[in-house]
Amino acid sequence: FAVDKIRNFSIIAHIDHGKSTLADRLLEITGAIVKTDRNKQVLDKLQVERERGITVKAQTASLFYRHRGQTYLLNLIDTPGHVDFSYEVSRSISACQGVLLVVDANQGIQAQTVANFYLAFEAQLTIIPVINKIDLKNADPERVESQIEKVFDIPREECIRISAKLGTNVDQVLQEVVKRIPHPAVSKADAFRALVFDSTFDHYRGVVANIALFGGQVAKGDKIVSAHLGKTYEVNELGILTPDEHPRDRLYAGQVGYVVAGMKEVKEAQVGDTLYHQNKPVEALPGFKPAKAMVFAGMYPMDQSEYSGLRSAVEKLTLNDSSVTVQRDSSLALGAGWRLGFLGLLHMEVFNQRLEQEYNASVIVTSPTVPYKAVLCSAKLMKNRRAVQKNMVYIDDQRVMMKYLFPLNEVVVDFYDQLKSLSSGYASFDYEDAGYQPADLIKMDFLLNGRPVEELTTIVHKDRAYSTGKFMCERLKDSIPRQMFEIAVQAAIGSKIIARETIKAYRKNVLAKCYGGDVTRKMKLLKKQAEGKKKMRRIGNVDVPKDAFINVLKRK
Ligand code: GTP
Repeated sequence: FAVDKIRNFSIIAHIDHGKSTLADRLLEITGAIVKTDRNKQVLDKLQVERERGITVKAQTASLFYRHRGQTYLLNLIDTPGHVDFSYEVSRSISACQGVLLVVDANQGIQAQTVANFYLAFEAQLTIIPVINKIDLKNADPERVESQIEKVFDIPREECIRISAKLGTNVDQVLQEVVKRIPHPAVSKADAFRALVFDSTFDHYRGVVANIALFGGQVAKGDKIVSAHLGKTYEVNELGILTPDEHPRDRLYAGQVGYVVAGMKEVKEAQVGDTLYHQNKPVEALPGFKPAKAMVFAGMYPMDQSEYSGLRSAVEKLTLNDSSVTVQRDSSLALGAGWRLGFLGLLHMEVFNQRLEQEYNASVIVTSPTVPYKAVLCSAKLMKNRRAVQKNMVYIDDQRVMMKYLFPLNEVVVDFYDQLKSLSSGYASFDYEDAGYQPADLIKMDFLLNGRPVEELTTIVHKDRAYSTGKFMCERLKDSIPRQMFEIAVQAAIGSKIIARETIKAYRKNVLAKCYGGDVTRKMKLLKKQAEGKKKMRRIGNVDVPKDAFINVLKRK
């Protein structure tokens, strides 16, 4: 393919605005897939994605499109739509010259429409606004066009009105892709240079890296080097994605495809890395914003005997998702496990769901936490409000965009659900990291008969200390069985007790029914009772069953 007949583009949209539906239609029109109901949302490959209806991993497809007697190669790079995955969006975008910005004709501009627009705008891509779902009864494309003009400064005449569902004007979208998006500015004659924009792991072939060729060509048998790690590999297989893999002998500048080169770990195909020919080093392409874990949670096998099975599942899954950070961890109560870092809450849920579905693993996940930087000092001088408004823009008479500075901790737990229910589903939300801020945080311990329970120690904001302390003490009280003596359950800040619950004494006399002499029977019962206690963790003189920890630590 001549470079001037190539277009590389992505579809970006707020969740549910119809990105996957549009991608399917484009694939159908170009004959990449046959039109049947079963092919619905081909680009959403993972089971989780199909079940939840959200795209998680970016997928890619090369389409062949006839326009005015010429055949064009359109490389569609699918991107995930959720706030947690803007990292995946930005790396997909780097391989493109243009994007289709899909906006729902009824809902208009939403939080991730804005976030995705800026990713594309900063990358200086051609942006084609597409107003989708014009078939809906409440569709108001006029209004959405005004919003696009006002918020993004794109003339309304540039918007294309479509119904991805019915296929209305979808062919026009492809024509505009050819007309408006520039071809990649690359040359086959240059030295080979390719950007790794995604990678997956295959049990048989090892790492499959998705690459965009920014110069030259590459063939089977070539020796290539990864700029980041400096390792050399031999190309075993390469080809294009339609979206299924189609092996080719050679890939050329401007093309997008996959390469298998004996890489054993996804770490070797670092997203953002540059590949070049051995002996022909080139300047590495500019990297990406690295993924940054924002939400952390402990993960433990339900039963310690499942540890090694779970370990290999976690390893395999992180091979396919390099944005999850993994650290070995162990808890006295829950045994050996991991502390995992995720991009956000949905990312964490998707990871758990994949672990359960694809690897059949049953796990305990502790409630999520966010990173803090602690500076120890005697007084904190700062007066801090938990959310600070930064600015407010009226998108039109019905919609307003507000920016707040929030502690991440306030957002991770159930902020998103509350926002949705308070606004009856109308409000949408997106975030980016604003760095560490000083805050009035305190460390809270939990005590059983005066002894601290290390695994429950937590960091809370001062204003939330009492309610959190009370809540946790109640949960503990409900989860720890009565014992032969009274148990005080306390929440403490330093030496100050701020909440207390009492578990009343109760003597379970296993010998009650054994009148008289049979010593061996008594011994048996006492032994059985002792064995039951082994599954407990003893804190001071209090036996705490593992279930109690699970109840208290687990997310609801
Ligand atoms: P993510 O992959 O999670 O980002 O969502 P998405 O943007 O890909 O949305 P998707 O294509 O899954 O569409 C969301 C919903 O809108 C689905 O129920 C679609 O059937 C519906 N939908 C998409 N396009 C149209 C359209 O043109 N008209 C109507 N009426 N519904 C549509």
